[in-house]
Amino acid sequence: MSECIDTILQRKSIRSYLPNPIPDTEKQRIIEAMLRAPTAGNQMLYSVIEVESAALKAKLAETCDHQPFIADAPWVLIFLADSQRIYDFFYYSGVDSLINSKLAPSAKPQEADLLLAGCDALIAAHTAVLAAESLGIGTCYIGDIMENYEIHRDLLKLPKYAVPITMLCLGYPSEQQKKRPLTPRLSRDLIISKDSYRHLQPEEAKTLYDANLPPSPHFLEGAENHGQHIYLRKFSSSFMQEMRRSVRAMLENWRDN
Ligand SMILES: Cc1cc2nc3c(=O)[nH]c(=O)nc-3n(C[C@H](O)[C@H](O)[C@H](O)COP(=O)(O)O)c2cc1C
Repeated sequence: MSECIDTILQRKSIRSYLPNPIPDTEKQRIIEAMLRAPTAGNQMLYSVIEVESAALKAKLAETCDHQPFIADAPWVLIFLADSQRIYDFFYYSGVDSLINSKLAPSAKPQEADLLLAGCDALIAAHTAVLAAESLGIGTCYIGDIMENYEIHRDLLKLPKYAVPITMLCLGYPSEQQKKRPLTPRLSRDLIISKDSYRHLQPEEAKTLYDANLPPSPHFLEGAENHGQHIYLRKFSSSFMQEMRRSVRAMLENWRDN
């Protein structure tokens, strides 16, 4: 028996909210829990932007692949991978003098720093998700915050070494959302292997995501099976192409030392 595991098992993404605001006391509890998330080297390589402006929410609802429910979410949090704060800290600590006297090599944030900071940001976000869930507050991740990097950088006044990793919409679930069943998952033997990577077998591929199919599936034009449908719908979709372009621009900006 574990209330924590029960909370994890009952969680689902919530995309429609009651208009009730989330009380400040509940927000503070969620933030308190979030700040206790594990973090690489206890450095807290992430920042969170609370989106208060209705106009900004409406704009993000457009720039994050046209998802109108973002504008209606009572609380919106943007999680940034943030190497800027620690880099500024080094600057103000006079790290330059260490470098100039050859006591330390010159180092700037690179891809590894971005991945590590991204891990911190996501772990903090999911800690907030579970804390919210335990208080009856629904959440939905918005990965599309990684699209339109240049627009988001300007809107949020992001410095060079702080980039959006994910966004969370939070609010009390509507009745219809509460009733919605949990989504299926792949079986554990597809996910977990022992000692080395297990490749998907050709016969397993035929039914991989079948549990996600509606009773009478209607594939996109040209698709003959579920794999081709998902390739068209998600993997090669215009939003994924935009995310790939945007993340490349984000990386180029970050690496431009
Ligand atoms: C990294 C990440 C990005 C996501 N981005 C979106 C998004 O942009 N819009 C959305 O409606 N849901 C988004 N989701 C939610 C997933 O669609 C959802 O978790 C998945 O369909 C499983 O459903 P469940 O969370 O209800 O179990 C995202 C989830 C993750 C983890």
